[in-house]
Amino acid sequence: MGNIVFLLPSMVFVVLLHNSVAALSAESPTTTTDQLALLALKAHVTHDPQNLLATNWTNATSVCNWIGVTCGSNHQRVTTLDLSNMSLVGTVPPHLANLSFLSQLNIRFNHFHGSLPMELANLSSLKYINFGYNNFQGEIPSWFASFTQLQSLFLYHNNFSGVIPSSLGSLLNLEKLMLYDNDLEGHIPTAIKNLSNLKWLYLDNNKLSGQLPSTLFDHLPKLQHLVLEVNLLFGRIPTSLFKCQELQVLSLSVNALEGSVPQEIGNLTKLSELYLYSNNLTGEIPSIIGSLPFLEYLDLSDNNLTGRLPALQSSLRGLGVSHNNLIGEIPLSICNMSSLLDYFILSTNNFHGIIPKCLGNLSNSIANMDISMNNFHGKIPGNFHKGCLLRSFSIRYNQLEGSLPRSLVNCSELEILDVRNNNLNDTFPYWLGNLDLQVLILCHNRFYGHIDNFEGRFSFSHLRIVDLSYNDFNGLLSMKFFENLHAIRNGSENKGDSNYMMYIGSDQVEYFYHFLYITTKGLDMEFPNILKILTVIDFSNNRFHGQIPEILGELHSLVVLNLSHNSLTGPIPSLLGNLPVLESLDLSSNKLEGKIPSHLVNLIFLEVLNLSWNNLMGLIPQGNQFDTFTNDSYMGNLGLCGFPLSKECSNEQNLEPQPTKSDEDGDAVNWKFSILMGYGCGLVCGLSMGYIVFTTGKPWWLVKVFERGQQKYDIRRKISRSGGS
Ligand SMILES: *[C@@H]1O[C@H](CO)[C@@H](O)[C@H](O)[C@H]1NC(C)=O
Ligand SMILES: *[C@@H]1O[C@H](CO)[C@@H](O)[C@H](O)[C@H]1NC(C)=O
Ligand SMILES: *[C@@H]1O[C@H](CO)[C@@H](O)[C@H](O)[C@H]1NC(C)=O
Ligand SMILES: *[C@@H]1O[C@H](CO)[C@@H](O)[C@H](O)[C@H]1NC(C)=O
Ligand SMILES: *[C@@H]1O[C@H](CO)[C@@H](O)[C@H](O)[C@H]1NC(C)=O
Ligand SMILES: *[C@@H]1O[C@H](CO)[C@@H](O)[C@H](O)[C@H]1NC(C)=O
Ligand SMILES: *[C@@H]1O[C@H](CO)[C@@H](O)[C@H](O)[C@H]1NC(C)=O
Ligand SMILES: *[C@@H]1O[C@H](CO)[C@@H](O)[C@H](O)[C@H]1NC(C)=O
Ligand SMILES: *[C@@H]1O[C@H](CO)[C@@H](O)[C@H](O)[C@H]1NC(C)=O
Ligand SMILES: *[C@@H]1O[C@H](CO)[C@@H](O)[C@H](O)[C@H]1NC(C)=O
Ligand SMILES: *[C@@H]1O[C@H](CO)[C@@H](O)[C@H](O)[C@H]1NC(C)=O
Ligand SMILES: *[C@@H]1O[C@H](CO)[C@@H](O)[C@H](O)[C@H]1NC(C)=O
Repeated sequence: MGNIVFLLPSMVFVVLLHNSVAALSAESPTTTTDQLALLALKAHVTHDPQNLLATNWTNATSVCNWIGVTCGSNHQRVTTLDLSNMSLVGTVPPHLANLSFLSQLNIRFNHFHGSLPMELANLSSLKYINFGYNNFQGEIPSWFASFTQLQSLFLYHNNFSGVIPSSLGSLLNLEKLMLYDNDLEGHIPTAIKNLSNLKWLYLDNNKLSGQLPSTLFDHLPKLQHLVLEVNLLFGRIPTSLFKCQELQVLSLSVNALEGSVPQEIGNLTKLSELYLYSNNLTGEIPSIIGSLPFLEYLDLSDNNLTGRLPALQSSLRGLGVSHNNLIGEIPLSICNMSSLLDYFILSTNNFHGIIPKCLGNLSNSIANMDISMNNFHGKIPGNFHKGCLLRSFSIRYNQLEGSLPRSLVNCSELEILDVRNNNLNDTFPYWLGNLDLQVLILCHNRFYGHIDNFEGRFSFSHLRIVDLSYNDFNGLLSMKFFENLHAIRNGSENKGDSNYMMYIGSDQVEYFYHFLYITTKGLDMEFPNILKILTVIDFSNNRFHGQIPEILGELHSLVVLNLSHNSLTGPIPSLLGNLPVLESLDLSSNKLEGKIPSHLVNLIFLEVLNLSWNNLMGLIPQGNQFDTFTNDSYMGNLGLCGFPLSKECSNEQNLEPQPTKSDEDGDAVNWKFSILMGYGCGLVCGLSMGYIVFTTGKPWWLVKVFERGQQKYDIRRKISRSGGS
């Protein structure tokens, strides 16, 4: 007995010892494996701006306490690695493949680059991979097929190229596949149809081409989001798509799809967002779209659709059908759309009739209303109430008449008002001067009267683009008016991070204003989006008289000045030479007299100069941009002489003081060059810049500016893609 009693503790001791040795041999080496793998990753991080890994990933604590690391509860192995949003720069080492219990790997919003090491294929427990918003390159590896447990694969916003591997079709547990914003090409693999658990498929903003495989959607019963916009897809929308009865978000925009919008769209009763804009779709809009009970956003713009706009459900928050061939009147069902919130865009169709009065009421919810380029007639509704939320209101190119409704003054958010090319008969809307209006375009109407009949009470201090041309304004050019243009005098107030005018929508997404039409340099320009840096004063083709006020020389951000075809007299103010970014100056067809101020030679960005048909005289200044202008800039001024005219100056005229050689040094030239290359400036270069920045598809509806780390949106609501958690 005694022995036994004596022995027991030692047996217990031995057993305990044995257990702990077993535990050590089971745990310690594996912990070290994970530790080594993570330290290898740390060693491959070349830049860690917040010093997170440097200070936290140390031997002092177990890897399970390291930042971004989570271990499984029983075996102390790393199961989750989340280094998202740490601004890390580096590569992914093969050692990571030793984290053999890893089920979630999230390194999105960093700057990892290079290609992915094949050893990672060993991570067969992975359920979630997020490499989004990095700089990975090369093809999407076909060995991703070995992640048989994978539910979420997020490779969006990288530099992946090549084709989408068919092997992804074997990831039968996959629910979310997001490959958007890459450089992928080739066809959408038919193998995707294997993914019967798929809920989200985002392949947008790539270069995928070919037709959508007709059987692709045969067995994707759970699909909720299908986003294939901004690719090179053509052919018809396959009918198999309408078997996906769970679809909520469908975007096939900015491709080259043809055929009609199928009636079967009515099968997709859960749709809340439908975007088919910028394709080649024809036929009528199926009226069944109007009975989709949850539809909130519908954008069919920029196709070749015909017929009438069907009655639509009152739940709509955004409607876009511009750039089609639609006819008829605006259906009165619009009046019931009290939840219209973001946009109502019917522009560039063949709609006719009067504007329903209720549109004024709706302005208490609609932020952007554009019914331009149609055949509407009658008056603009006058019932813009207090609380009007309109930000942009465009009715250009219609046959609207009467006056601008004074109730527009209730639209305190109004930034863009474009009524060009109508038959409006009114005086200058000085009463809008206290709004934050940035763009005011009244040209080609019958506006009349003075612009100097207000006493600084109304300031237009945010105005950057004002076009009063082709009206019947008269009187003097008001000094007060120009004095108050603070946005043009002091430069762009909100330089911000974008070159484009934008605002934050009701859904917290940034929207661009788009479509600005400006006549300048003799051309009708169409800007895909409004450049913030563009400033324009166009008072041409009116009956203004008197002198050009010197104060114009203080509008330091002015890019375009057109006072042509008026009855202005007196000299050209020498101070106009102080406008450092002026690119276009047109004072032609007035009664200006005196000499061309030599100070104008300082306008080193001046591309267009038109002083023709005045009474100017003396030597044409020489140097800088003045060496580039031709006879056309000066014709109809009998007293001018010197280059480029063939008429030589007499001795007396030659005594004209020459400008001090202005410093056209390397910097100035480079600056201009960089502007031409697309950092700013309007007009011709702005236009081509728009085309470049907005890449694929048809320029006028191009939607997205690609800025790394940021997504910007056009005026229309875009899909709110979650980062994919
Ligand atoms: C941390 O651990 C690794 C691997 O065990 C070892 O190589 C390294 O020397 C250790 N560093 C320190 C500072 O202890
Ligand atoms: C590392 O970070 C984690 C999580 O923030 C923290 O709990 C831990 O104390 C840190 N360890 C060290 C050594 O700083
Ligand atoms: C990233 O982190 C910064 C600051 O830590 C935070 O402001 C930002 O919202 C984060 N971004 C994302 C996408 O998580
Ligand atoms: C971890 O992975 C690397 C590279 O894949 C390999 O060479 C090494 O043997 C592994 N180390 C451990 C401790 O498993
Ligand atoms: C891990 O990958 C390597 C090389 O890719 C391979 O030789 C090895 O068999 C794999 N190990 C496991 C456990 O799958
Ligand atoms: C993307 O990859 C291509 C080559 O595949 C390269 O030319 C380009 O510079 C890369 N872009 C970025 C942003 O890394
Ligand atoms: C599709 O799934 C079937 C089994 O359901 C499988 O045999 C086939 O290989 C899969 N296709 C691809 C491309 O993975
Ligand atoms: C439309 O839905 C019905 C069931 O509601 C289904 O039987 C039919 O096949 C669907 N049509 C198409 C074209 O998918
Ligand atoms: C649209 O279709 C027409 C007629 O089929 C064709 O001529 C045109 O090239 C297509 N446009 C685009 C952008 O695909
Ligand atoms: C619309 O159709 C006409 C002919 O019917 C064609 O000329 C035009 O290119 C089409 N527009 C688009 C955008 O495809
Ligand atoms: C507006 O809605 C009301 C109630 O739902 C309905 O009675 C009326 O017919 C609708 N008006 C139009 C023009 O659709
Ligand atoms: C503009 O309206 C005024 C008064 O409302 C009228 O006298 C004038 O004839 C109209 N002018 C034009 C050009 O229609």
